[in-house]
Amino acid sequence: MSVRRLADENVQPESFKFNRENSSVAKGWIKKYPKERKASAVIPLLMIAQEQEGWVTKASIEHVAGMLEIPYIRVLEVATFYTQFMLKPVGSRAHIQVCGTTPCMLRGSEKLMAVCKRRINQSQFETNEAGTLSWEEVECQGACVNAPMIMVAKDTYEDLTEERLEEILDAFEAGNGNDIKPGPQIDRIYSAPAGGMTTLQTEIVPSTARKSKAGKSEFKKQPSSATKPARPASHVSTTAPAVDTPVGKRKSAEAQQKEKAARAKAGTHSPKGRQAAAAPSLDDKNRPPQMQKPASADDLKRISGVGPKLEGVLNDLGIYTFAQIAKWKKAERDWVDGYLRFKGRIERDNWVKQAKELAKE
Ligand code: FES
Repeated sequence: MSVRRLADENVQPESFKFNRENSSVAKGWIKKYPKERKASAVIPLLMIAQEQEGWVTKASIEHVAGMLEIPYIRVLEVATFYTQFMLKPVGSRAHIQVCGTTPCMLRGSEKLMAVCKRRINQSQFETNEAGTLSWEEVECQGACVNAPMIMVAKDTYEDLTEERLEEILDAFEAGNGNDIKPGPQIDRIYSAPAGGMTTLQTEIVPSTARKSKAGKSEFKKQPSSATKPARPASHVSTTAPAVDTPVGKRKSAEAQQKEKAARAKAGTHSPKGRQAAAAPSLDDKNRPPQMQKPASADDLKRISGVGPKLEGVLNDLGIYTFAQIAKWKKAERDWVDGYLRFKGRIERDNWVKQAKELAKE
């Protein structure tokens, strides 16, 4: 770690004072801690001072020490320890922090640093001639998935190329840095795969809706292979013919389905013989009372654990209001739990209590 010292006296301003807005923000931070622990606000206060001045001056360190009623050395040691604090003036319009840690380095951060050296200054922490830009190499900023990246103030600019970095530097140099949208600089949403979705492309439909007209089980159709990204060669389709594997012959999907049907008929869920919980009958006496769909049904999705699909299933069962659910007795709760194959989730999520409170509204 490099030695971090305060800037020379000749660049240090004589005094420092928080402006009115920052003063109240700083006092707010101090109030977050018990009186005898207000020294804990040292990092936020230094950060506010840096945002106001552009860097941490000696005068600001003295001012923060005074506000927190702690010795000057206690604040100085924090300011000189953490590399987030700039101890000398940096670019007035932007200080570019280029991540040089392994993922960013493997994806081209050295080329980004070469751009900074050419456009700003050969040396880190030195400004360009106009004093508007400066740069430094930093360690991982936590956006490795979109490497390589830079950080300016609190924003990250990711998936960079040399050309895009040049454009970003142009914008900051001209004072138009706010026009650049932070985040990925290519056509991707946050850290989603750059080439589009590669997983979770099959929508599983509820068991009650899974029968085709011919009575066969089916999944919803997936997008055609022409629009799907290529799958790895190791992927085995559920409709693929039987394939020999190192651990023996893999059964074809048809054979697996036959076996599953035979197990279901025999009342066993798996080869280990676990009992399948039969769904309760719709004619069961414990089925909760139904009602016709009212003019304005309650939004059952407000119950934690109920999503749009589940709301649809409940509506199919004639359940439309919080008041209905609030009245469910134990046997009725068990019936719904069994029907939805929830294994106790209704009790765990306490639907009845939730529904009672929502019904009061
Ligand atoms: S390695 Fe660059 S952000 Fe993590």
